[in-house]
Amino acid sequence: MQPEMVATFVGRGPLTGRAHVPGDKSISHRALLLGALAEGTSKVLGLGDGHDIVATRSALAMMGVEFDGDFIHGGRSRFREPERPLDMGNSGTGTRLLAGVLASMPFLSILVGDESIHRRPMERVVTPLREMGAFLDGRDNGRFAPLVVRGGRLHGIEYTPGVASAQVKSAILLAGLAASGETVVREPIATRRHTEEMMQLAGAKIRYSPDDKDYVVALSASELRPFEIQVPCDPSQAAFFVVAASVVPGSDLTIENVYVGPGRAGFLNVLRRMGADISTVDRGANVVDIHVRASELVGTEIGGDEIPGLIDEIPILSVAASCAVGTTVIRDARELKVKESDRIATVTSEMRALGANVEPTEDGLIITGPHLVPRGRVRSHGDHRIAMSLAIAALRGDETLEIAGFESVATSWPSFIDDLEALQCG
Ligand code: S3P
Repeated sequence: MQPEMVATFVGRGPLTGRAHVPGDKSISHRALLLGALAEGTSKVLGLGDGHDIVATRSALAMMGVEFDGDFIHGGRSRFREPERPLDMGNSGTGTRLLAGVLASMPFLSILVGDESIHRRPMERVVTPLREMGAFLDGRDNGRFAPLVVRGGRLHGIEYTPGVASAQVKSAILLAGLAASGETVVREPIATRRHTEEMMQLAGAKIRYSPDDKDYVVALSASELRPFEIQVPCDPSQAAFFVVAASVVPGSDLTIENVYVGPGRAGFLNVLRRMGADISTVDRGANVVDIHVRASELVGTEIGGDEIPGLIDEIPILSVAASCAVGTTVIRDARELKVKESDRIATVTSEMRALGANVEPTEDGLIITGPHLVPRGRVRSHGDHRIAMSLAIAALRGDETLEIAGFESVATSWPSFIDDLEALQCG
């Protein structure tokens, strides 16, 4: 086991200049998986470099897919039974989406991961993939990893997931690429649609609703053709810098080439409601430069259909809420409990340690501000987004804040500390 890393942060004045954040994690996973399935050589530029992405690439390489710089040499005939368990590390997206790919592969595979992965619910993908004809099992009758998959012949299903989850939708669609008949997913609340968009790019026979209302996607078995993609920057990572520049007085920051397509830009709407000074410059294809200047924030209500589009941003929005005047109520966000940590519990305990006024509820948080005195020592709980949110909270203080377990940021953003320091005047 690696020793725990304790990182220290302190407010050092405004954040200024132009920032880059890593390639989008959701799009990177899909680019790897679809590139692995496409017959021939695909080209993927700007892939995220976090450990989650490395885990997915290593798992595919263990099954015979070849990676060479920006190129992926893929095709179904390359896939062979892995000799060892596939270690997905901390990655829920990697584990669940790969289960969808493996459901049609005629061999046995075992998906394992770290402590957090083994606690996260898996029956949400196991149930529909079993219904499609694959054999899947896991601890507690398939509820938890390790997951065992013996793929085989699949048939399409019509499915309405019980939770609003792009991972569930994507696992079913990835299996549907090799299923007889049609695979249909109906989403009561629409989620990010990277899988659909990228399957279309790779020539899949797929149709989906033009907007979020009564969202349906239908797919027939398809052989994918190779594709080329430039992965845009990750809005979930940009959110850390957008909040930082909003709450550190005097900041004036531009974050370049950020994806703001369907299901990903909810945090910008929330911050605008809170009074953030945010403008965007359109770069085409749902990509923008985000310009943020510091401003006084006020509390807001966050809930309902907007939750899936900002679920990953709730820890950093909690920091914004602690700096805002008034009360912020976050509801309908029960899914927070089954992320990399139980984020209702971890946001509550760590933000309270910084003097924030946070009340946990069954499905969210109630935060009253402005209350934040960052100092002392807090913990990441092995959760990259908790670690980075706490680092941003520290920028509001003038005493040192120690964050234990900071190595967890490598899950999605190995160079976070350097990239943040580059924006701080000192
Ligand atoms: C993701 C979907 C979301 C999100 C996760 C990435 C994806 O999870 O929280 O970080 O890439 O599909 P759920 O599908 O579990 O909501």
